[in-house]
Amino acid sequence: MPPKKDMGPDPDPTQYLFVSLEMKRQDQTKPYDGKKATWVPCEKDSYQLGEITGTKGDLVVVKVADGEKTFKKDQCSQVNPPKYEKCEDMSNLTYLNDASVLWNLKARYTNQLIYTYSGLFCVAINPYKRFPIYTPRVIKMYIGKRRNEVPPHIFCISDGAYMDMLTNHENQSMLITGESGAGKTENTKKVIAYMASVGASTKKAKEGDVKKGNLEDQIVQTNPVLEAFGNAKTTRNDNSSRFGKFIRIHFGTSGKLAGADIETYLLEKARVISQQALERSYHIFYQMMSGRLPNLKGQYINKLVDRYHNFI
Ligand SMILES: Nc1ncnc2c1ncn2[C@@H]1O[C@H](COP(=O)(O)OP(=O)(O)OP(=O)(O)O)[C@@H](O)[C@H]1O
Ligand SMILES: [Mg+2]
Repeated sequence: MPPKKDMGPDPDPTQYLFVSLEMKRQDQTKPYDGKKATWVPCEKDSYQLGEITGTKGDLVVVKVADGEKTFKKDQCSQVNPPKYEKCEDMSNLTYLNDASVLWNLKARYTNQLIYTYSGLFCVAINPYKRFPIYTPRVIKMYIGKRRNEVPPHIFCISDGAYMDMLTNHENQSMLITGESGAGKTENTKKVIAYMASVGASTKKAKEGDVKKGNLEDQIVQTNPVLEAFGNAKTTRNDNSSRFGKFIRIHFGTSGKLAGADIETYLLEKARVISQQALERSYHIFYQMMSGRLPNLKGQYINKLVDRYHNFI
């Protein structure tokens, strides 16, 4: 079987980044009447699309999928024209309301587009799948590009910060926030990988060639160690960070990587001795007991059992 376009060593990321022409065409042909179309609250999906069929004072009669319903005027939100369907930056929407924002994010997400801008913010929705959107090929697509030249991506935000640092000679910071399992740790790793790539002091011999020892690789490789000691399985996330961190990456005047340091806060130490049902302690304990390093258990762990309390 020939390899699929989106697989292999250098997969095509197009369908995970751009709204296809076919999608655009379909969106444009949707019927739309700006005076009648409205978003109304709905239990199942938070909001649903409806058509205003009449008004009675402060009340509006709306035709929705399961018949006609009456809503208060202020429960109804305006619907954007089709040209804004799956738009890349929601600050451009004519009507900026909760329903329109949620609809736009959902429409993009169900079409495998996980990044969307909202002004200065970049919203990322966890795909729970590995899309080929973090490959060296994609990194190259974003280097030195302005926001309106490329589709929304964490790499674009990273490149913006890198360029602003070089142009304005000022420190830059990025806030990555969201609920547990939202993708903060994953996106942080992508930012670090991007910075390591654009600020690399040494050219990699070949793509995929694992070279040890250079600074950019060392910075990227700190993560598995940190996660082993600070991340654990919870009911919301198999790799939940049980500590906060501030990662500082240093660059030289020409933009080459110079080093990195990490401050950590508030490690959830209690997890070492007690976990909720279905949760686990820090990964490191399971890794040590996995037998992957054949002599580890015999040489160290068994001998230290009676002294465990010293380490807790
Ligand atoms: N962009 C992504 N691509 C593929 N998988 C992802 C992506 N973002 C998140 N995931 C998946 O979701 C899981 C949870 O994401 P992550 O650990 O980044 O959440 P978090 O926001 O750091 O949560 P916590 O607050 O619990 O630490 C990841 O282990 C990964 O399997
Ligand atoms: Mg995390």
